[in-house]
Amino acid sequence: MGKFKINGGKRLYGEVEVHGAKNSILPILAATILNEGVSVIHNCPRLKDVDSMIEILEHIGCKIDFNGRDIVVDARDVKDSEIPDNLMRTMRSSIFLMGALIARNKKAFISFPGGCDIGHRPIDLHLKGLKKLGVEIEESYGYIRCKGVRVRGNEIHLDLPSVGATENIMLAATLADGITVIRNAAKEPEIEDLQNFLNSMGARITGAGTNTIVIEGVKKLHDTEYTIIPDRIVAGTYLCAAAMTRGELTIVKALKEHLEPLISKLKETGCELKTGNDYIKITCNKRPKAVDMIVTLPYPGFPTDLQPQIVSVLSIAEGTSIVTETIFDNRFKYTEELVRMGADIKVEGRVAVIRGVDKITGAKVLAKDLRGGVALVIAGLGAEGTTVVEGAEHIDRGYESLEKALKSVGADIVRIM
Ligand code: EPU
Repeated sequence: MGKFKINGGKRLYGEVEVHGAKNSILPILAATILNEGVSVIHNCPRLKDVDSMIEILEHIGCKIDFNGRDIVVDARDVKDSEIPDNLMRTMRSSIFLMGALIARNKKAFISFPGGCDIGHRPIDLHLKGLKKLGVEIEESYGYIRCKGVRVRGNEIHLDLPSVGATENIMLAATLADGITVIRNAAKEPEIEDLQNFLNSMGARITGAGTNTIVIEGVKKLHDTEYTIIPDRIVAGTYLCAAAMTRGELTIVKALKEHLEPLISKLKETGCELKTGNDYIKITCNKRPKAVDMIVTLPYPGFPTDLQPQIVSVLSIAEGTSIVTETIFDNRFKYTEELVRMGADIKVEGRVAVIRGVDKITGAKVLAKDLRGGVALVIAGLGAEGTTVVEGAEHIDRGYESLEKALKSVGADIVRIM
C-alpha cells in the first residue's frame, strides 16, 4: 500500500495544469464499443480507473493503444458480452458496460459494480430505465443477465437525477429503434461530454446539460476523434489546496462555469478568485473564514465530490461552518482522520459541524476512499509537522501523479512504499 508523506506548512505558489476528466473518460471509453470501428480520444488522464476500464474493454475483444494522452480503441472485434466479477468489482464505472453491451451485442452478463465506499450505491434506476427500453433483465446470485433483442425508444422519468443511470440509458438508447426521452436527467458536464462524444460518432442526442435529454436512435455509428473536458473536481481540489496553504495558484485548463459553487464558497472564505477562458487564479493571504452553509446537490449545486476537500479547508477557518451531504449517505468517514490531526468536527447523520481551529497537526492517517483521501492530503499540506496519508491507491484512482503536481507548486510531498 503506497503512502504520501507531507511536511506541512509550505505555501503553494505557481501554475498547475488540470488533466482530463475521470468521470468523462470512463463512460466515453465504454461508449467506444457502440461503434464497430475506431475511436481516437485525446486528453486522457493516466488513472487507475482508466486502466481498469481498458482491461475490461480488452477482455471483451477491443484492441487498445494508450500513448501519451491519446487512447485509440479499435472495437471492430467485440465478441464477448460477459464481464467477470473480478473486473466488475474494480470500480463503479464498470456498470457502463451494461448499456454499452446492450447497444452493441443486444445482451450483457455482468455482476454488481464495485467503487468507493461512500454509502449506499444501488443501480435500481439503471435497471428500471433499461427495462423501459424493452431490455429483459434477470437478476440472480449477484449476477445480472440482460437481453435486448429489440431495444425501443421510450419516455423515462428518473426518480432521482442519477449521473450513472442517465449515462447508461443514453448508451443503450443511441442504437435503439425510435426516440427516447429522459426526464429529470442529471445535468453534470460529463453527461454533456458523453453526448458530444456519441454525436461525434453519428448519434443524434440533444438536451444533455438540461433535465430533458432526447435520443433519436440511429442504425450505425462511424469512426471518431474526440477531446474530453478538463476534470472540474481535480481543478477544485487544487483550489482548496491553495486555500489551505494561504497560497496563490493559477489552475490552467480549468473551466470556471463548471466550478461556480466552489468559487462562490471560496470567495466567502476570503480568498480572491480571478477567472479567464480556461484558467482560475486563486490568492489567499489570510486565515480562511467559516461559511454558514454548504449543501451538496446535483449539478449545478455544490458537488459532493468536493465536499471532503472544502471541509479540510474549513477545519482551520475562523468560526463554525455547517456542511450537509445530501447525495451519499456515508461520505463523512474521512472526518475521523481529520479529528486525529486536531480538527474539531462533529458529524450527525448527513450534517457536519466544523468548528475551525487555529492549526491542525501532522499525524498518520488512512485514506479510505478517493475524495476523502485527497482531503487528508490537503489537510497535511496545511498542518504543522509531518503527515503520512496511507491508502494512496484510492487517490490514484482519480488524480494523476498528485505528488508531482503539488511538488511543482512548492509542496513538500513524496510518495513512499
Ligand atoms: N442512486 C439510486 N439508484 C440508482 C443510482 C443512484 O438510488 O440506480 C442514488 C445513489 O445512491 C446516490 C444518488 O442516487 O445517493 C446519486 O448517485 P449517481 O447515480 O448520480 O452517482 P454515480 O453515477 O454512481 C457519479 C460519479 C461520482 C459522483 C456522483 C454524483 C462517475 C463515474 N461517478 O456517480 O463520482 O460522486 O456521480 O455526482 O461519474 C468520484 O469521482 O469520486 C465519484 C464518486
